[in-house]
Amino acid sequence: MSLVVVSNRVARGKPNEPMTGGLAAALLPVVEKTGAIWVGSSGRVRDGSQKEPFAEVEALGAGALAMLDLPAAHYGGYYEGFANSALWPALHSRADLIRASQDDYASYREVNAFMARALLRFRKPDSVFWIQDYHFLALGAELRDLGATQPIGFFLHTPWPTRAVISGVPHHRELIEAMLAYDLIGFQTDEDCENFLSYVRDDLELAVQDGIITSLSGRTRAAVFPIGIDPDRFAQQATKAMTHPDVTRLRRSLNGEKLAIGVDRLDYSKGLGNRIKAFDRMWTLHPNLKRTVSLLQIATPSRGAIEAYGNLQSEIAKLVTDVNGVHGEVDWTPIRYLNKGFGQGVLAGLYRTAQVGVVTPLQDGMNLVAKEYVAAQHPADPGVLVLSKFAGAANELDAALLVNPHDIDGMARAVAAALAMPLAERRMRWEAMMARLNNGTIQQWFADFIEALRDTRNPDKAIMPA
Ligand code: F6P
Repeated sequence: MSLVVVSNRVARGKPNEPMTGGLAAALLPVVEKTGAIWVGSSGRVRDGSQKEPFAEVEALGAGALAMLDLPAAHYGGYYEGFANSALWPALHSRADLIRASQDDYASYREVNAFMARALLRFRKPDSVFWIQDYHFLALGAELRDLGATQPIGFFLHTPWPTRAVISGVPHHRELIEAMLAYDLIGFQTDEDCENFLSYVRDDLELAVQDGIITSLSGRTRAAVFPIGIDPDRFAQQATKAMTHPDVTRLRRSLNGEKLAIGVDRLDYSKGLGNRIKAFDRMWTLHPNLKRTVSLLQIATPSRGAIEAYGNLQSEIAKLVTDVNGVHGEVDWTPIRYLNKGFGQGVLAGLYRTAQVGVVTPLQDGMNLVAKEYVAAQHPADPGVLVLSKFAGAANELDAALLVNPHDIDGMARAVAAALAMPLAERRMRWEAMMARLNNGTIQQWFADFIEALRDTRNPDKAIMPA
């Protein structure tokens, strides 16, 4: 069997290249090993009808990476438009931020169709397709229209919201019907999968039994595959990163002071404003924690051409300035705020340096930063993870200090508790979380999904009801 993996963003495997987003970083080590072909956007666009899509192909471990120039006329409507101004807010339960024009939807469908045509070039007779994420909800249907008969799987890295929220997306019915061209649809959590199935049952009025949907397109299985990381690789990266100049400089600058760290794309789903307010509250309630702990917040710019992101950038920058203005001293900055990306080879060392990892999204599919923070800790003296109960990771990492990201006081208390936590409790919690990470690695996730995808065509497997 040969595997073709598709995602909008791809990673090129350069160790110190900054990574924006969990998906590309997570897929890289497995794709390298499995010998799959990974197809995605080059980040560049090209004019013209593109009957023959232009792809730059390079080796990637045992496999290959193919980066496509997407059609210039449709890129904006697809990426900034329908994918990130209609689907992204809906998937993160921000129906108030949904903006979509008919043209954006048309461009989204055009790019899905374009990608389907391009994929045929990489198909072998025994190829299986695995499509990633909300950029390509309709890609399976486009491939079927072009005659593809092989198994096609889809994995959604974001949450899937309630029926009421997803119904706020223009053309929701058409899109979800198109998704039924997939043989297997994977979700991060039971709740996401159940939300999807409840739409299929109640809005599409289709039969669903044990996660298997029967429709005019055939049978589609919906199931849960929580994505993991490679904890050993991350721990090794952390050890190595401790001598990286950025990490050495950070440690020197701390002068014995403790550090809390947040690492996020600058996105409204990440709850950055509430997090900063929680630190403000903590320093107000516990002035003894001033000069004792500072926050390093890395907020990598993202989707800057979209209004909601531009507004967020100004809002967070202002909040940080206000909090630093109130609590700062001539020789102490409470929040170190960086608008840039770092490679994993540095991030791992920053995580190990921080006594507290703060991962407090309002909604998140999984949030791999939470898992990476845990894996990067030193076993003898691990830090504490403060984690939003609305991140998919909270289902597995229940030994973290779980918080409600809307409760500013509660988060302030949790960070203060994390800072005061005795070593024995820190170790106990960390060991419990590491056990979960070792049980659900990225390699396991990949293997489980591919096996389930193949099984959708295996008449001997019990997953297909008679
Ligand atoms: O959460 C799903 C995801 O695909 C992540 O990989 C990433 O955080 C984001 O969405 C995509 O971001 P971008 O628009 O920068 O590719």
